[in-house]
Amino acid sequence: MKINKATYLISSPGFEQCPKLTQPEYAFIGRSNVGKSSIINAVCNQKNLAKTSGTPGKTQLINHFEVMSSNSKGPWDKWYIVDLPGYGFAKVSQSSRRRWEQMIENYLRKRPNLNRVFVLIDSRHEPQKIDLEFIEQMVKWEIPYTLIFTKSDKEKPGAVARNVQSMFDILRERLPFLPQGFVTSAEKKLGVEEVIACIDQYNRLYAEDQQS
Ligand code: GTP
Ligand code: MG
Repeated sequence: MKINKATYLISSPGFEQCPKLTQPEYAFIGRSNVGKSSIINAVCNQKNLAKTSGTPGKTQLINHFEVMSSNSKGPWDKWYIVDLPGYGFAKVSQSSRRRWEQMIENYLRKRPNLNRVFVLIDSRHEPQKIDLEFIEQMVKWEIPYTLIFTKSDKEKPGAVARNVQSMFDILRERLPFLPQGFVTSAEKKLGVEEVIACIDQYNRLYAEDQQS
C-alpha cells in the first residue's frame, strides 16, 4: 500500500464532537511522550502533520487525519488516523485525568468506524504498570489492538529485544491471547512499512465486513 496523501481533518474535544465517518479509522494511543505523533508522521511520510513536542501532554484533543492510499487491489482508498492524548502524564490534576479517562473510554467503546487501535509502548523501558493496565483494560473492553514499540533507535538492540520479550512474557501470563507487535523508530523509519502493511490488511478486512 502506498500512502498518496495525508491531511489534517479536525480536532475534537470529545467523542460526541468527532466527525461522523464511515471509512475505517486507526487510533494511536499510549503514554504521553511515547511517540504517537511522531509515528503518525512517519507512517504518513510528513514532518509536521501531527504536532510533536518534547513536552509531554501536548496532544489534548482527538485529532483526525484523512489518508488517501492506493494498492494493487484498487486505487484511492480513504481512511483515517487518530492521534489521541496520552495517558500517565504526572502533572495533571485528578479532575482532568478523569475527564481524559471518560473521553477515551467513550471514544474507544463507541466509535463505530474504529477498526484497530495501536497501543504504543516505549521500547527503552521494561514493562510499565500503566501500560499493562491499559492493555488489560482494552482486552476487558474487547477492543482490537496491536502493539507498537517506539524509539528503538534510542536504546541498544539487545535492550530493546529484552524489553519487548519481557512485555510479551508478562502478557502471556495475564491475557487469553497475545497481540501482534511491531518494533519501530519514527526517527530512523524502522518498522514503519510493517505498520502500513498492517493497516492495509485491516482496511481490506473492513471492506469485506461492509460487503457481507
Ligand atoms: P504527547 O502528544 O505529548 O502525548 O506525545 P507523543 O506521544 O505524541 O510523542 P511525540 O511524537 O510528540 O514525541 C515525543 C518526543 O520523542 C519528541 O521529542 C520526539 O522527537 C521524540 N521521538 C518520538 N519518536 C522517536 C523515535 O523513534 N526516535 C527518537 N530518537 N525520538 C523520538
Ligand atoms: Mg502527540
